[in-house]
Amino acid sequence: MSEVRLEGYKLEGALGSGAVSSLYRAVHEVTGREVVLKALKASIPPTSSFAAQLEREARILAEMSHPNVVLLIDFKKAEHGAGRTFLVLERVDGFSLRELLRRKRALRVDVACAIACEVLSGLEHAHAHGVVHRDIKPENILLAKRGDVKIVDFGIAQRDKLPSANEPLVIDEHGEPLHKESFGAPAYMSPEQVLGEHVDARSDLYSLGVVLYRMLSGLRPDVDAGAKAGDERRPDAPRSRRDAPVPLSARTKELPRGLDNVVMRLLERRSDDRYSDAAVVRELLEPYARGPSKEAHARLIRRALVEATLVKDDGRRPDDRTTRTTRERPWLSYGVFAMVGVAFFGAGALIQLTSQKEQKLLSTGARALPLSPTEAGGLRVLAVPWAEVWVDGQRIEVTPFARAVPLAAGTHFVTLKHPDAPEEKRTVEITTGETVQLDVTMRLGDEGKR
Ligand SMILES: Nc1ncnc2c1ncn2[C@@H]1O[C@H](COP(=O)(O)OP(=O)(O)O)[C@@H](O)[C@H]1O
Ligand SMILES: [Mg+2]
Repeated sequence: MSEVRLEGYKLEGALGSGAVSSLYRAVHEVTGREVVLKALKASIPPTSSFAAQLEREARILAEMSHPNVVLLIDFKKAEHGAGRTFLVLERVDGFSLRELLRRKRALRVDVACAIACEVLSGLEHAHAHGVVHRDIKPENILLAKRGDVKIVDFGIAQRDKLPSANEPLVIDEHGEPLHKESFGAPAYMSPEQVLGEHVDARSDLYSLGVVLYRMLSGLRPDVDAGAKAGDERRPDAPRSRRDAPVPLSARTKELPRGLDNVVMRLLERRSDDRYSDAAVVRELLEPYARGPSKEAHARLIRRALVEATLVKDDGRRPDDRTTRTTRERPWLSYGVFAMVGVAFFGAGALIQLTSQKEQKLLSTGARALPLSPTEAGGLRVLAVPWAEVWVDGQRIEVTPFARAVPLAAGTHFVTLKHPDAPEEKRTVEITTGETVQLDVTMRLGDEGKR
């Protein structure tokens, strides 16, 4: 049985899970410090390239020391196939920007710019260390109840320079550099990242531009106006990526013209046409964020959380939920996590944990979970106009993806979803080392929706 064990920490419960990782809440037994454990899913072999990717995330975070970047406290590596690899992170007591945007479709100019300034400040730090985050999107921007902003998830971050001698280039099973393994969100990805071209700091600035556009207008630039209110998961039909984005000023009343120019320049398709430096953008946004003060930004953000009824006026959350990540990711609802063992060894408390789902997968040969990359083939999906792709009951990504999805050899069940079309179901046979391509046209407007 794979398990998370962390000497000296008491496990509190599951926080949620992504494509390859599971997150748990834990507390340091002596100091009471609240942390988050980010572990590789139990079904992914510790020898796989994803374990190496988690280690990369830890190495990158270990170099960072900045108020706007989540703090890495520790890293534990699975040894000789035993235990699990995981990161110990400071716990950000608050909400993701995605949760705020779900409550409030558009934010006030000063609030949006305060959040953007703080993210830019964190990006400045990462970029100064030669690190490109590559996955800037609302889920990866956390807003603490006190109003601080933290960037999380350096899971697909990449060094902007060649690897140094003490950091060997990790390659995947196809001989590709591991950093190309990407589950980033296409909607927030720069055109060069979607195309798999070289990315640098300007790619993060594009993604931040999409986030800022979204905060100010309530819509992403690739989405047509008229989106159904509250439909966060799929706001509306995306515009073609070749279309120029709708000017922000056409969607937002009383937008300062200077601000419109900054945002639209961040969204330039050619990276050469964007700003080259996060600090320059931050300085341009500060006048709209009531100046450069972090404390002033925190006050604005705190008030926005109160107005969105996420936080009560006394600084407490009205409903102190532990499952907010699950709410953010509705496809997790059937991946209910349960703590199955709390074991104590000697004087130090060790914790053991696995989820029901993960246990089931292990006992059934770990076939249902698609990501088992030691013996993997790949899946590409071309969907017209686009679709949400689910594999073996797990949501993977929205098309187009930058990279093929690695899948274990064998049969997999693929479901394609679009809000205005019936679900399309396909069965694919994956063979090690081969990539299968699915071409599907969604039957828009057909009867018999899901
Ligand atoms: N340090 C943290 N404190 C609080 N919540 C966190 C923390 N790190 C991650 N989370 C929550 O868990 C989610 C998934 O974490 P993330 O690192 O983005 O994993 P993944 O690589 O699976 O996307 C985040 O979107 C966030 O809501
Ligand atoms: Mg994430």
